[in-house]
Amino acid sequence: MAITTKCIHSRFILLFLWALLILGCKDSSVVVQEPEPSNEYTPLRSVAPFPVGVALQSSRLGSALHSQLVRTVFNSVTAEYEMKMRHMTSPSGDYIWDPTDELIAFAKEYDMQVHGHALVWHQSTPSWLENFRGTDAEFEDAVKNYITNVVGRYKDDVVSWDVINEAFEDGSGALRNSVFRRRMGPDYIARLFQYARDADPDVLLFYNDYGTIWDTAKRDAMLSMVDDLQTRGVPIDGIGLQMHITYNTPPLSNIVAVMDAVVQRGLLVHISEMDVRVNPQGDLSEFTSVRSELQKQRVKDIVTAFMDLPEANQFAITWWGLRDPESWLIDFWGNPEWGLLFDAEYRPKPAYEGFLEALTGN
Ligand code: G3I
Repeated sequence: MAITTKCIHSRFILLFLWALLILGCKDSSVVVQEPEPSNEYTPLRSVAPFPVGVALQSSRLGSALHSQLVRTVFNSVTAEYEMKMRHMTSPSGDYIWDPTDELIAFAKEYDMQVHGHALVWHQSTPSWLENFRGTDAEFEDAVKNYITNVVGRYKDDVVSWDVINEAFEDGSGALRNSVFRRRMGPDYIARLFQYARDADPDVLLFYNDYGTIWDTAKRDAMLSMVDDLQTRGVPIDGIGLQMHITYNTPPLSNIVAVMDAVVQRGLLVHISEMDVRVNPQGDLSEFTSVRSELQKQRVKDIVTAFMDLPEANQFAITWWGLRDPESWLIDFWGNPEWGLLFDAEYRPKPAYEGFLEALTGN
């Protein structure tokens, strides 16, 4: 019996100690120390001859380390979602300016340009527009008013806008049958660009899409749209190639061919949403040094190819996130992924070195 009592007594003490440990960990006063930023790196913005950008969420400005790294390394920001129509307006159509105003204030304070993304995107259409009950002409007026109000409000703060994002179907290159296409007709894109130009005579106007570097039908549809717009004198200044790629696809030659086609049309090239997947087959459960080196070389190759373009056509290279664990890739593809320049501890990865080596020619 004595042994049993002693056993219960010691178990109680262990349980009590364990509870203390757990409670101590949950104590909200315990401040989670953010890792010290690594300062053994050269900021990209200090050596790049073109703007280097990052997708930013306004909520992340609350992290001193996140915002410090963003403003030290980069000199361009793209709102990861706040400047899309569904987030710029409430379900009833009222404007929501604060998150964008906060991002712009941050960019201004640290001498960073702001790229606006995106005025029209079928995946971010707010309910007030998707379910618009008026006539088609009234629908178009509502879209025109939105563009006029948003571009007009930020005409001195936003240097460029993705006027429309991802307008063509994968595989066929057909115009997506979005509510904009249905209600404004097949020539709606030209009018979106014109409304944006009318709202700001100086802002740079882009068409942005993914897949144009591996999907030839989508690439050809985009380029013939550009040719048509240019023939008709519709204002367009650049093309955003999102650059959501893997460490080994698509071939670099594909990417160079599309960038050259954009340059041949006298347009700016924006690598607008870059990330480099190292685990596309889901065969990794951790970030291996082999794939890290392949990712580094891939980044170096892409940046080198971008720098081979005429300087007048180099708009910017923008990364779609700062740190690996924050990337959209993880939820979207359902695999562990390490697609960005910084690791979970805010340290630059070999991919960052690859970017620098391309910039410095080392
Ligand atoms: O965290 C906020 C929450 O605080 C807020 O209340 C809520 C309101 O809806 O939004 C939450 O944010 C979510 C955000 O991701 C952060 O997680 C948004 O709902 C969600 O829509 C947003 O998804 C973004 C997605 O575009 C749709 O806008 C992703 O971050 C962003 O990476 C992704 O980016 C797209 C490009 O715009 C276009 N190219 C493809 C790329 C990847 O899908």
